[in-house]
Amino acid sequence: MQQKLIFLVGMMGSGKSYWAQRLADALDYGWGDLDQFIEKETSLSVKEIFETQGEDYFRNKERDALRALGAFDVLVIATGGGTPCFHNNMDWMNANGITIWIDEPVRVLAGRLLPERESRPLIKNLQEDELEHFLAQKLGERKVYYAQAAHHVHAAKITINDLLQTLNIHV
Ligand code: S3P
Repeated sequence: MQQKLIFLVGMMGSGKSYWAQRLADALDYGWGDLDQFIEKETSLSVKEIFETQGEDYFRNKERDALRALGAFDVLVIATGGGTPCFHNNMDWMNANGITIWIDEPVRVLAGRLLPERESRPLIKNLQEDELEHFLAQKLGERKVYYAQAAHHVHAAKITINDLLQTLNIHV
């Protein structure tokens, strides 16, 4: 069978795992979440990995997990917000599948992430009024990687049809 991998990239809070499941359902593909894969492999939460092993260790695990999921034939993969920015992962994803940047406004991301700060290592120490600024700054740094995705879905409210249309699939 021809290998078909779809990688969803973008900021934390952009709904990559949600859209990976929806897209997989629509295409009759399997789906996987990189963070969940790492958590299963290490028996630690992402938060615990950052706290006890540090970010470099996490980024190595993330690179290995990406390559491991890449061995599947047909899969939609939700990556972590930082995945494209380390270890040539963006080049690797573009060489091995179709990449889609899920891009929602920072204001929307901040609203979604606010109640989830505690479980997210990069934002857990931020005050409510610092979150949007932090996300805007991170996006500024990471855009150069996300923009290398083959497709870019940008909307205040993304729909499954936006994703299917970007892949030129109509259902
Ligand atoms: C990170 C995003 C997280 C997770 C880790 C680091 C980042 O994934 O990989 O906390 O660097 O933006 P999500 O984008 O799925 O939240």
